[in-house]
This record gives sequence, C-alpha cells and structure tokens, in this order.
Amino acid sequence: MDAVSNPFSPGAGSPPPDLVGREPLLETVRVSIARARLGNPSKSILMVGLRGVGKTVLLDRMRDDAEDAGNYTLRIEAPENRSLPALLAPQLRTALLRLSKQAKAKDLAMRALKGLAGFAKALKLKYNDIEVGFDIEPEPGLADNGDLEHDLQDLLAAAGQAAQKAGSSLVLFVDELQYVQEDQLAALITALHRTAQRKLPVILVGAGLPQLRGNMGNAKSYAERLFEFPEVGPLSPEAARQAIAKPAKDHGVKVDAAALDLILKETQGYPYFVQEWGKHAWDVATKSPITKADVQKASTISISALDASFFRVRFDRRTIAEKKYLRAMAELGPGPHRSGDIAQTLKVQVTALGPRRASLIAKGMIYSPSHGDTGFTVPMFDAFMKRIMPGEGWRRD
Ligand SMILES: Nc1ncnc2c1ncn2[C@@H]1O[C@H](COP(=O)(O)OP(=O)(O)O)[C@@H](O)[C@H]1O
Ligand SMILES: [Mg+2]
Repeated sequence: MDAVSNPFSPGAGSPPPDLVGREPLLETVRVSIARARLGNPSKSILMVGLRGVGKTVLLDRMRDDAEDAGNYTLRIEAPENRSLPALLAPQLRTALLRLSKQAKAKDLAMRALKGLAGFAKALKLKYNDIEVGFDIEPEPGLADNGDLEHDLQDLLAAAGQAAQKAGSSLVLFVDELQYVQEDQLAALITALHRTAQRKLPVILVGAGLPQLRGNMGNAKSYAERLFEFPEVGPLSPEAARQAIAKPAKDHGVKVDAAALDLILKETQGYPYFVQEWGKHAWDVATKSPITKADVQKASTISISALDASFFRVRFDRRTIAEKKYLRAMAELGPGPHRSGDIAQTLKVQVTALGPRRASLIAKGMIYSPSHGDTGFTVPMFDAFMKRIMPGEGWRRD
C-alpha cells in the first residue's frame, strides 16, 4: 500500500499513531502533578522498563499534557557522560524566564534566576560542562556553595516558590535517568525530598531502564519510599491489536484477525516491534485487508530492519569481551540467567566476570532483576546475538 501514507512509526522516541494501553499511567502522572500543585502530598514518578516499551514517547505525552494544564515543565535526557547540573541549568533557565512573565511570580522567578546564576558559577569548576552564560547577577548565599547537594536544594526550592506563587507547578521530565551518576542522583533526590517537605510544587517524572530502581536506592536509601516506580512493559494483547488495527482503520484499511494474531505472536506486544511490523505489513500489502501472508513477508523484513538499527546500535558499541558475554547469555535463551550459568558457558569463574557484568549494567545493556540474575535490557536480544554471532566461533578467543 501507499508508503507515503503509512501511519506506523518505529524509532526511538517516535510518537506512535495511537498511544494505546497507557491511560492508567497517564492518569497517575496527571493526578500526581495536580496534587503537588495544590500542596497536597504527592510522589514523583519514575517509569522503569526495557528498551522499546515506549517510555520516551510517554514522557513527551505527559509533558504536553502538563503544559496544556498550565504547569511549567522542562525536559532533559541524561546521556552517558554529561553532568546533571549541565543539562538542567539551561532548561531551568528557560522555564524560569517563562515564569517571570507572570506578574504574580515575577519577583520570585527573578530570584530563582539569580540562584541559578550562582549555582552555575559555583559549580562550573566541578562540572566544567556547564555552558550557560548568565546575564543575571547571582544573589550571594543563594545556591552558590559549590556543593551540588546543597545548592540544588536551594535552587529547586526557589524555583518551586516561584511556581507556587503563579498557582502552578514545576515538573522536571528526565529521560534515561539510569545514566545519572550516583552523587548527582543523590543530590536530586535530596532536593525533591526537601521541596516535598516544604509542600512546594516541584515534581520529577522520570524514565529509565530497570537498573534505575537500584541506582536510586544506592544513592539514597529512602528513595524507594519517596517515589513511585511504575513498570512499563509490553502492551496487552488487546492493546497491541488496537495499536495496529486503529491507525489502519483510520486510513480505511482493514487487518485480518489472523494477521493481527501473527503480529502479536512475533512482537510479543513490545511497542517498538509492533510499530516495525505494522510499518512493513502495510508496505508489503497490495490492498486492504492486510493478510496473514502479508505479515509473514513483513516478518523477514522487520527482523532485518531491527538488526540494522535497534539491535545493531547497541551491539556495535560493545568491546569484544562484552560481546562474548552477551553471546553466552544468548546461548542460554531469553533469560534472565544465573551468573553461575553464564560463567559456566564461558568456562570461567563467576568472580572473573564481575567487572564485565558491572560495565554492561552501567552501559544499560543488561540489568539484574534479582540478586545474581542477569537479563537483557533489550527485548529479544538473545535471538539477535545468535544471528549476528552465529555458530560456535564466538567460543574461541
Ligand atoms: N503505547 C504505544 N502504542 C503503540 N506504539 C508505541 C507505544 N509506545 C511506544 N510506541 C512505539 O514504540 C517505539 C519505542 O518507543 P520509545 O518511547 O522510544 O521507547 P523507550 O523509550 O521505552 O525505548 C516507538 O516507535 C513508538 O512509536
Ligand atoms: Mg527512550
């Protein structure tokens, strides 16, 4: 069918034609923000889930909703090697400048901007990736200690006071939170704890891989009580069917039940895969309805498309030793696997693999669902590893 009007959109952060099956989560976040705004006790929310389940598009949608409801928001994505203050400062500046346009909040927003200037100046030595230039004079003593944990508290409190005065709230949307360094995560947790205690309307809505939960607990032992950690997983069978059938129907195209069943089976309801299969089934089909035979053809194309992008980018950046570790995991199946079994497959002692495992966790390739277990953070990565490193050659050095 016409590729130009193909509604499906596989890709990291690409908004789907229909964001299905996530209504309860959207509602939880809406309520949390609205409560914080009124000064009611409210928890920050950290969505955790594997790659490709739709965390990023959810964050974007939640941000749009929050803005529409009159909240002040900022959105950052923590890459593997930039500091949180460097990411936060420019975005916070934009939000505060917007707040300062509100007559009621002007003075407090200006004060928060002074705090931000002091914050950036004082922390520049330690986090030399802070780049923003500030045209505002700092207020001596406000967020300018040079100690992140202390200064971030001051800064978010000042910003929260401004938002409160405007009858609004400040919502921080942070993606890939698992990459934030432990000390910086600790500072963020402390700052949010403080604003919550002072009933200031500042909320974090974050997303990250499953290791985020443990990272938060390591940074501050009380973090698990302070936040909600909803899991984002594959779509229910019903939602996955809808994710295909609804956009097609909106374009006047039907999808046979058998075709939907096969897509469901192949994708296991993982949103990224659902979009990929939807896209190729559409392109393969010559007319409505899309049939099971179309999906069969689409499967081969979808898998090679994933191998060339979604899976491949994660594989290419690994060292040879890391690839071997991942390949050994794949040998054992989808997982999760016991560390002992992985070691045995590689014919080495478990302890010898400690550093490699830790590095793969830090890079977001694998995670530990429970003590001593290891799983892939990318669904169906085991099958990919077997395709890209076929046969027995990987066992040799
Ligand atoms: N609820 C959903 N319904 C249908 N497709 C979705 C849904 N959520 C995400 N997707 C699709 O899944 C893919 C991955 O989404 P993304 O937000 O990048 O995932 P993550 O951030 O968890 O890795 C995108 O192509 C997106 O369009
Ligand atoms: Mg993402």
